[in-house]
Amino acid sequence: MNLRETQAPGAPQAPDFVPLIVPEIRGNEWHYVKECLDTNWVSSVGSYVERFERMVADQAGTRYAVATMNGTSALHIALMLAGVERDDEVLVSSLTFIAPANAIRYVGAWPVFMDSEPRYLQIDPVHTLDFLKSDCTWDGAALINRRTRRRVRAILPVHILGHPVDLNPILEIAEAFSLPVIEDATEGLGSTYRGRSVGGMGSVGCFSFNGNKIITTGGGGMLVTNSAEWAEKARYLTTQAKDDPIEYVHRAIGFNYRLTNLLAAVGCAQMESLDAYIQSKRQIAKRYNSALGGIPGITIPAEAEWAQSTYWMYTIRIDAGITHIDSRSLLRELHSRKIQTRPLWQPLHLSPAHAHPDGQACPVAEVIHRDAISLPCSVGLTIPDQDRVIDAIVDIVSRNPRS
Ligand SMILES: Cc1ncc(COP(=O)(O)O)c(C=O)c1O
Repeated sequence: MNLRETQAPGAPQAPDFVPLIVPEIRGNEWHYVKECLDTNWVSSVGSYVERFERMVADQAGTRYAVATMNGTSALHIALMLAGVERDDEVLVSSLTFIAPANAIRYVGAWPVFMDSEPRYLQIDPVHTLDFLKSDCTWDGAALINRRTRRRVRAILPVHILGHPVDLNPILEIAEAFSLPVIEDATEGLGSTYRGRSVGGMGSVGCFSFNGNKIITTGGGGMLVTNSAEWAEKARYLTTQAKDDPIEYVHRAIGFNYRLTNLLAAVGCAQMESLDAYIQSKRQIAKRYNSALGGIPGITIPAEAEWAQSTYWMYTIRIDAGITHIDSRSLLRELHSRKIQTRPLWQPLHLSPAHAHPDGQACPVAEVIHRDAISLPCSVGLTIPDQDRVIDAIVDIVSRNPRS
């Protein structure tokens, strides 16, 4: 079953349905998987795992990479490497998919949500610095959140939608407050910040190869770092913390988080196509930008001069006061025309799963959430399908008279 079938409720979609994002399988995937099957190297040890790790480390510009079964497990291990413990706090973007906040809870710590900046929709370094300066205090060597009396232990910026976070200010803040930076680069593979790949600039970075990501292994993840010690510990923790090559002895609680050779084989083939996929995504974004950018009330995604975005998830914002149609009505209208779009995630400071009475206000994230809608942007989205999306939006917006 593929995403085309699973994304809509009920029956499989009609053939003229334009899905939001589907995987692109057009390289050596079959060939490499067949080799695994023919040679019996299907499980979590094998040459494709090592090769995939090397390819992602090279892409991220790190010395080490450890493959994991998904991005969430990579985040879980990254938090452990960073020394985050029960009842610590981790600063994290409010406007993100829920996985990083969940991973923070897996180690018993608490997310403290930071607002977004309004241009590129990423975590706001100004809010982050402001929180650390105004709301936290040193108690000996521990940085304490005054409101909760908990220790602040790490910063977890999330590069969302394929555009990088403005990372230098975050890295400077982190250094000033002696906090490790865990980059959630799960949506950012291939995007660069001041010429450097996301994921490789913090203490540790995490990627996802989930079905809707720019490359996919069906499900998979990767942790990258320049620390030999952390890489070794990650390998240890992801393989049940086995302490002896022969005897089954364990000094710690570990996890079965390793990626299989079969899936890594798919990952190697996908990585071979990454540059081509980025080019396609950027080309689609360029066409959308030129067709939609001039429409009053529609804000196209901005790319900072210090960034190269992959436009992983092409997202526009609708000012309903000007277009006279809000983002959710537009979503429904497009759906009735068999075009799949989706809203951004509920900001996590409002999420019933994570909201906290002592939490920070994140008003910018709330406005972005209200106005944003992501458009179909599969790597293989054809020009006729791009035109269908564009024509439909132009038509819907022009039917809603402006006063
Ligand atoms: C920002 C973010 N973090 C973490 C994840 C988790 O990755 P996975 O689904 O591979 O566990 C995802 C996506 O799925 C994501 O978008």
